[in-house]
Amino acid sequence: MEPKTIKRIGVLTSGGDAPGMNAAIRAVVRAGFYYNLEMYGIYRGYEGMIQDDIKKLESKNIAHVLERGGTFLKSARSSEFRTPEGRKKAYDNLVKHGIDALVIIGGDGSLTGAHLFYNEYGIPSIGLPGTIDNDLAGTDLTIGFDTACNTAIEAIDKIRDTATSHDRLFFVEVMGRDAGFIAINAGIGSAAAATLIPEKKMPIERLVERLKARTKAMKSSNIVIVAEGGKSGGAVEIAAKIKKELPYYDIKVTILGHLQRGGAPSSLDRVLASKLGVFAVEGLMQGKYDVMAGIINNKVVFTPIAKAIVGHKEVDEDDFRIAKILST
Ligand code: F6P
Repeated sequence: MEPKTIKRIGVLTSGGDAPGMNAAIRAVVRAGFYYNLEMYGIYRGYEGMIQDDIKKLESKNIAHVLERGGTFLKSARSSEFRTPEGRKKAYDNLVKHGIDALVIIGGDGSLTGAHLFYNEYGIPSIGLPGTIDNDLAGTDLTIGFDTACNTAIEAIDKIRDTATSHDRLFFVEVMGRDAGFIAINAGIGSAAAATLIPEKKMPIERLVERLKARTKAMKSSNIVIVAEGGKSGGAVEIAAKIKKELPYYDIKVTILGHLQRGGAPSSLDRVLASKLGVFAVEGLMQGKYDVMAGIINNKVVFTPIAKAIVGHKEVDEDDFRIAKILST
C-alpha cells in the first residue's frame, strides 16, 4: 500500500498483560522519536481509547520500563469496543488528538479488535504479539511466553523439592486456555511425569498406567503438568479422578495462575519486544497496515492480522513426542 504520511502514533496494550510489554512500548516510542514522530500513550487498552485516556509521551515516560513486568500503559479487556458505538467513540478520540497511526500490543482478542477497527476506519495500524500463551500464527514466539515458561519452570523446581521429600504426586496447573505451549515447555523443562494439553486428549486410563509404571520404577516424585484448558479438566478435577484410581498416592494440587504473567521479562523477551517495536514503527512508515510483526526463524516478518488470528498455531508434534519419551 502507498504509505500515508504519519505524524502521530498511538500505542496501547490490551488483553492479558505479558512480561515484555513495557519493553515493546519503549521500543515503539523510542523508534518514533528517532524518526521525529509524536508518540501518544493510550491507557487501559481500547477502554482508554473510548474514554479518552490518551496522553502525549515524553522520553521520561519510558525511562526504566524495559526491565519491568506488567505494562505501564495498563491493560483491559473492553466489551464496549466490541460494539460499533464504542469503536466510533474511540475513533473520534483519535481524531481529536490527531493520532494518525496505531500500534496495538496484545493477543488474539486484541488483534481481532485491531483488524475490525482498521476495516471500519482505515487508520494505519500494526499489531505486536503480546501474550504469554504463544498462540498466534505468524510468529514463532509471542512477547511474554519465554518469561512465563521460565517462571513456571522455576516454580515447578521448587515444588519438585517438596514433592521428593514427601514422595508425593503433584498436579501443577499452568495457564493456557486454548493452547498448550506453556504446558509442553514446562513439561519438558521440568521432567514432568505427564503433560496434559488442550490440543490432545489423554484418557485418564493412560495417565493411570503411566503413573503405575513410574511407581514400579521407584520414582520418588511425580509431577503432572495440566494446562488450564485441558480436555480432561483442570488439575483439581484430574487429581480427584487419579485419587480414586490410585488411592495410595499422596496427592497435592498447585495452580500457578497469574504468577506466570508477572515478573521482569527474560533476555529473550526483552530483545524480541525491542526488535518488534522498532519494526512496527518502520512498517507503518513503509505502508504496512493491518499486519502483525512477528519473528520467524529469527527474522521479523509481517503477517496480515486476519491470518495471525485465524491460522491456528499447533503445538509442535516433536515437542509432544519428546515430552512423552522423556516422561517414561
Ligand atoms: O491470554 C493470557 C491468559 O493469561 C490466559 O493464559 C488465561 O487463560 C487468561 O489470560 C486469564 O485471563 P484473566 O487475567 O482475564 O483472568
